[in-house]
Amino acid sequence: MRVVLLGKGGSGKSTLAGLLSAELSTRGERVVAMSADSVPGLAQVLGMEPSDDWFLAGMAARDNGGWKLEGTPAEIVDRCAREAPSGVRFVQIGNADATLKDFEFRRESFLDRWSGTVAFNTVSRAYDDEGGWVVVDLQGGTLQVAGGMVGTTGVAMVVVEPFAKSVLTARRFVDMGRWPAGLRLVGVANKVGSPDDEAYVAHALDGLGIPIWATVPLDPAVRRAERDGQPLVNLDPQSPARVAVAALADRLGQVALAPVTAH
Ligand SMILES: Nc1ncnc2c1ncn2[C@@H]1O[C@H](COP(=O)(O)OP(=O)(O)OP(=O)(O)O)[C@@H](O)[C@H]1O
Ligand SMILES: [Mg+2]
Repeated sequence: MRVVLLGKGGSGKSTLAGLLSAELSTRGERVVAMSADSVPGLAQVLGMEPSDDWFLAGMAARDNGGWKLEGTPAEIVDRCAREAPSGVRFVQIGNADATLKDFEFRRESFLDRWSGTVAFNTVSRAYDDEGGWVVVDLQGGTLQVAGGMVGTTGVAMVVVEPFAKSVLTARRFVDMGRWPAGLRLVGVANKVGSPDDEAYVAHALDGLGIPIWATVPLDPAVRRAERDGQPLVNLDPQSPARVAVAALADRLGQVALAPVTAH
């Protein structure tokens, strides 16, 4: 099953992608977590050392004006993923610093990195681990979605905070037009601090025709862990955010068992 997290910058995509990946892994599932962001938010949540590496650089080669993958998606994951403490296998596109600090836009270097992006897209779309999970953490906003990084199958999960600009980003996804039939666009309300917050997001997403699959409270333990430099995957399993993510994993597990249908 493939789960892609999208939404406004700062809405909590990386937090939820990391906690969800770890939750599934704890349940004995095989999970590949992929970060399409040039800022290592997901790595931090998973307790990985931040790194500037493009894990998949060079994993696609020029071929007849297009690109060809250097192996099957599963082989490439085996070769390039790094294991996080929770057992999640982690893959990232390189850090912005690595791209910008030395202006390595000489052709060879650029092509090598671009091949990493191509491989990332292909692997995240085509990786099929016979019942395994791929969790993809996108950058904020609509650009990567418009660029096709959301793919055509699985669950596209828009993370929405209880305020208007966050809802507006969700609206932009709906406004993009007809979504691929194999991809379900669903919502997660995050940083919900009150019944009013919950009602606000519920009403807004209902108006957009996006079903809410989880409501994640504003959890002081998340902030505390971040301030203390603790990976969020070490949060107490009883903390409100982790309890909500466990319920989300239950919900996704039901879908993973059911055949995908058009929404
Ligand atoms: N449920 C929550 N309770 C409290 N704080 C939260 C919660 N979810 C996320 N946060 C905090 O909100 C901030 C943004 O979260 P995160 O980095 O996951 O967002 P993002 O959508 O990935 O952002 P970006 O678009 O920059 O990648 C972080 O400081 C995170 O700790
Ligand atoms: Mg992020």
